[in-house]
Amino acid sequence: MSAFATALEPGPTAPQHQHESFSFTLELRFLLSYEELIIVLPLRHLAITAAVACTAALPAALQAAEEPVTIYSSRIEQLLKPTLDRYTEETGVPVRMLTDRGNALMERLAAEGEGSPADLLITVDVGNLWQAADRGLLRPIQSESLENDIPAALRDPEGHWFGLSRRERTIFYNPNMVEESELSTYEDLADPKWEGKLCLRTSKQTYTQSLTAMLVAEHGEEATEEIARGWVNNLATDVFTSDTKLLEALAAGQCAVGIANTYYYGRLTNQDPEFPEKVKLFWANQGEGEGGAHVNLSGGGVTAHAKNPEGAIKLLEWLASAEAQTGYTHGTFEGPVNPNVEPEPIVKSWGTFTPNTTNAAEIGSLQPVAIRLLDRAGYR
Ligand SMILES: [Fe+2]
Repeated sequence: MSAFATALEPGPTAPQHQHESFSFTLELRFLLSYEELIIVLPLRHLAITAAVACTAALPAALQAAEEPVTIYSSRIEQLLKPTLDRYTEETGVPVRMLTDRGNALMERLAAEGEGSPADLLITVDVGNLWQAADRGLLRPIQSESLENDIPAALRDPEGHWFGLSRRERTIFYNPNMVEESELSTYEDLADPKWEGKLCLRTSKQTYTQSLTAMLVAEHGEEATEEIARGWVNNLATDVFTSDTKLLEALAAGQCAVGIANTYYYGRLTNQDPEFPEKVKLFWANQGEGEGGAHVNLSGGGVTAHAKNPEGAIKLLEWLASAEAQTGYTHGTFEGPVNPNVEPEPIVKSWGTFTPNTTNAAEIGSLQPVAIRLLDRAGYR
């Protein structure tokens, strides 16, 4: 396999920003996906390897009896590989994988066109999934098995992509500084009562954009811009480039309240069982008519020019099955999309909540609106 390792050059959208105190080894442990790298370090500093870049380049001797499936994935290889290895063991189907940032993979798919070796695109964030479908990079598929295993809100109504893990973005607070009873909604964090107390992640991050897009779906563009302005006015400190740093700032009392993805909290809790005493999770928007907490996704779709679409669909069905969902979500502290699968114990300890039911496709489609309004609101 290593003979096919390929160092990827940064694409045209390679990030320029470099975080001064970036510690690669420390941060890498906290990465689920290459999306995380967009803000924290330039891609050229990474030696990204592809398990196999191109099926067409394989010597005939390496072609297995079963037709291989080729995945382009922005999910970090170490996280996905154990699950894929199990699939190969069980089915004999070889799985080849190329990993990079979601944007770079989409550019690559578009540039390769019909000649692309990719059968399946796996990426994180509904914005990316929606964009891949919108650009015609994914084909619509129908699968009873996927429809049974994945709730309707967590997949594209037209079948271009399917959620594979849930990642909630909710409110966290320092219990020495805030009473739980003071908390309610994302919108409320724009209230002047939180002035100088709020920690937020940068608007350059797709997670911020998706949460904002969900609010646009609920309130419209103008009202959401006002909310974003309120958030900016309430900031305790500069926006953060990582949710982990944000949660650590909450623990340190640098801010009282903030918004982050739950799986970062899961990983910090896994490392330090006392972390939940320093920072507590609050499920946002649980009151009547408040819409529910924001759910984002990692997910996948069959590529428009897949050479092995049947193999890609089978693999996707397997990833959503109860059998594979435990392996896919437990190591990452994400939530299974399949309701028949038990969440990892730390994830389970956060209890149940009412999720926002805006379809992920609508959130994705509103991301461009969200990006523009965040900019107008001065949210950096
Ligand atoms: Fe992340």
